[in-house]
Amino acid sequence: TAERATAVAHPNLALIKYWGKRDEQLVLPWTGSLSLTLDVFPTRTSLTLDPSLDEDRFLLNGAAVTGTPLDRVRTFLDLVREQSGSRVRARIESENSVPTGAGLASSASGFAALATAASSAYGLPTDTVSLSRLARRGSGSACRSVIGDLVEWHAGEGAGEVADAASYAENIPGPELAMVIVVVSAAEKAVSSRVAMRETIRTSPYFDGWVTGTTQDLIDMREALAAGDYTRVGELTESNALRMHAAINGSRPPVRYLAPTSVEVFDTVERLRSDGLEVYGTADAGPNVAVLCRNADLERTHRALADRFPGLDLIPARSGPGAHLVENE
Ligand code: DP6
Repeated sequence: TAERATAVAHPNLALIKYWGKRDEQLVLPWTGSLSLTLDVFPTRTSLTLDPSLDEDRFLLNGAAVTGTPLDRVRTFLDLVREQSGSRVRARIESENSVPTGAGLASSASGFAALATAASSAYGLPTDTVSLSRLARRGSGSACRSVIGDLVEWHAGEGAGEVADAASYAENIPGPELAMVIVVVSAAEKAVSSRVAMRETIRTSPYFDGWVTGTTQDLIDMREALAAGDYTRVGELTESNALRMHAAINGSRPPVRYLAPTSVEVFDTVERLRSDGLEVYGTADAGPNVAVLCRNADLERTHRALADRFPGLDLIPARSGPGAHLVENE
């Protein structure tokens, strides 16, 4: 009889970004990063062990996945099999409402849910450190979606097994935050973050500055969160995101993720601040901008942005839970 497990995970958005791997195989980042897990766009993934299969099957929202996304899932399950000593293939069914490839972190919720379901079905350890380390191998940012609310992903010192064991995400305390995601475009991005990271490291002269600056930003952000200093949290968030884009823009040939409308949103955020609404912008590897606000200001922030961008989709999001198993239906 087949083993089956179902897990749910949510996307996260980084306040201090992860950009660049020092070890591609182990997915070890150049710096630590820090994020907020959101309460929107859950991914629900069921994994069923099926000894009759020659290859893993993957259905996303009811359609068979092929090509690179399927290869990534198979490589991930090969790792799970290597760790569990099993040779059995699996059937994966995933429901994911995140617009794929829009820079809204669908790989984060996807691999966090898959790591959680697979660990349960294949009998691997299910403590959050083990789940986070495993999810990291699927997609770096996925290790943060294993944990709820405010999360720090430790870079993990050194190399090889020692670093692998030390590179995981954990919850950290801080003020109650929320975000409004401004969907500038839900289209698939031109250059995947995986490829763009590689190109930034290889060709951008600003990558070294990115690593040095982010190492300091992380220290300052930890302090600001612990002190409940929302203003400092916001300033660091906006600056760190723009520095990431500056490093990416410095690649040759250049990679640009921000669109004219993204820049308009950053301008609006600045104007709202001068009008007394304390909001800050951040953006991942795509044109969408997430507007950070105090949790108590979420409705007001949503309304202010709806007034100024009547044509755009706005997604208000609060702090969300970490990945967890759910009952099989
Ligand atoms: C800009 O985690 O998607 O969103 O590890 O190659 O799968 P891989 O990359 P991924 O990169 C996320 C980059 C980012 C910043 C962040 O989430 O910290």
